[in-house]
Amino acid sequence: MAFAYDIGFLGGGQLARMSIQAAQRMGLLCISLDSAENTPASQIADAVQGSISDPESLAPIFGQCAVVTLENEFVPAKAIRRAMQMAGRPPGSLIPNVDSLAIIQDKLLQRQTLTKAGVPGPKAVPLDGDGSLAVSQIGFPMVLKSRFGGYDGKGVRVAMNSDDLEQFNHLWATGGGWMAEEFVDFSRELAVIVFVDRTREGAFPTMETVQHNHVCDVVFPADIDASQVAIQAVKAVGGNGLYGVELFETKDGQLLVNELAPRPHNTGHYSLDWGGISQFDQHVRICLGLPPAPLDGVEAAMANLIGQDGPMNWRRGLSAAISSDPAVRVHWYGKEESRPGRKMGHINAVGSDALGRVKSARERFYLEAFGLSPQLSDPG
Ligand SMILES: Nc1ncnc2c1ncn2[C@@H]1O[C@H](COP(=O)(O)OP(=O)(O)OP(=O)(O)O)[C@@H](O)[C@H]1O
Ligand SMILES: [Mg+2]
Repeated sequence: MAFAYDIGFLGGGQLARMSIQAAQRMGLLCISLDSAENTPASQIADAVQGSISDPESLAPIFGQCAVVTLENEFVPAKAIRRAMQMAGRPPGSLIPNVDSLAIIQDKLLQRQTLTKAGVPGPKAVPLDGDGSLAVSQIGFPMVLKSRFGGYDGKGVRVAMNSDDLEQFNHLWATGGGWMAEEFVDFSRELAVIVFVDRTREGAFPTMETVQHNHVCDVVFPADIDASQVAIQAVKAVGGNGLYGVELFETKDGQLLVNELAPRPHNTGHYSLDWGGISQFDQHVRICLGLPPAPLDGVEAAMANLIGQDGPMNWRRGLSAAISSDPAVRVHWYGKEESRPGRKMGHINAVGSDALGRVKSARERFYLEAFGLSPQLSDPG
């Protein structure tokens, strides 16, 4: 069967764009599907506008592409299975495999699957009625999570006591599907990019990640190796492909898995500049069934560029960041609109002082692009 495209992407955001850039360097043809116009991916490769939840718009992508992959975990597994049928394509035409997607996209099913396989993580129960099951099984403080569709902390709340729980009752009373989870008093958060196929497995270096207002702020090398538990987690959901694994390290040194993402991950963006293979190149190789490259980069750090209040002058920010430190690399996703809290780009640097350098370059960027420093805009 001859295909018009090598790889199709469901979703057209920055993760699709950076994966497509990697694929294009290898001469591969790509297309993306997104409900929005002028997405980061559509600026650099063919794109179609359409719903990523509708089998009718998914099926032509399966029909035209040798392999299809995900840019986010929100494409319903059911719609994908139907689209594959409509296009006469086998389940293996989606990488990551659709069964692992089905588990991951329901945070409760994901947690139950990990727990059953013996992967350490916070205990979770479904939320319904007055939440009494959660109170007896989990207790306070308690983390409330939307089972479906959360990102950047948008589906996460913390209830400190029964008054809080009552206040949040409307969330699951309206039938949205929520769960309650043990609050982990972690000392830090970690992340690992894992790749697995039928015969091979591997993991990028373990990174420490710091969140600010629930959005990833900076990422830098952790002095710990969490790859074993991260690979175990991906295998527990029957994974085949490249995954981001988020973990907590508790104050007594335990590693707990928070959640998996069936795609490249924000915490792996440093790999664009670390000198070894990037997570995007590795993702493309895994999608095509090619051997993954060895991981031989150097220490690197990343700071996210997050949208702030007010108008943005990106070119002034870029020029200020690079002028302040010519060794940093600025990546910009080409999103049409900058909104507070939105991931707009990131800055990478390598070397032992990389974390300090990406932070100072980012301050210069914010100062010039938004006319304010992050400290002034957000005292938190
Ligand atoms: N059980 C928990 N105990 C303590 N903090 C938690 C817990 N679960 C989540 N958090 C905090 O909330 C953040 C967001 O939670 P989670 O990763 O589950 O949601 P998300 O919206 O899918 O996030 P993202 O898309 O940013 O990865 C975590 O990175 C962590 O800082
Ligand atoms: Mg998360």
